[in-house]
Amino acid sequence: MTVNGAPRTIRCEPDAPLLDVLRHDLGLSGPRFGCGVGLCGACYVLMAGQARSSCDFPAWAAEGTDVTTVEGLAAGGTLHAVQQAFIEEQAAQCGYCTSGMIVSAVALLGRNPSPDEDQVREALEGNLCRCGAHRRIINAVLSAAAAVSHGAARPGASAGPGAAG
Ligand code: FES
Ligand code: FES
Repeated sequence: MTVNGAPRTIRCEPDAPLLDVLRHDLGLSGPRFGCGVGLCGACYVLMAGQARSSCDFPAWAAEGTDVTTVEGLAAGGTLHAVQQAFIEEQAAQCGYCTSGMIVSAVALLGRNPSPDEDQVREALEGNLCRCGAHRRIINAVLSAAAAVSHGAARPGASAGPGAAG
């Protein structure tokens, strides 16, 4: 599979979840383990432009696919517009949910560059934040969308590394 733009060959147990391969074999600590059953969003990664859970996705099923983690969103030393907006809006408290939130937001902007608040809320439904930082998270996504649409940030809405940065 390709991970953050680089081809990677992995040997793993047949039942190894993609999340374990990303974290333990590839050292990518952005995707986090939360619930382990696809219900919290902490482990989300981009696959084919869609945010999806990696904790319940078999690593073998990712063969031949492009996987982007939060680490792969910045390009050339420049943060993705969503990453930048999360910093500016101080949209993280403990930060455990943040990478998954960012991944879902990037996927949203990839299919809808100008979402309204309801669309942002809907897109982030699968991402839980135990700290209650939802207001600032939504503000950050709306801010990122505005920045991209006004040309204040490089368009980072598409899912792939480089293009997404
Ligand atoms: S850890 Fe994967 S969705 Fe919760
Ligand atoms: S910032 Fe702590 S879980 Fe969201």
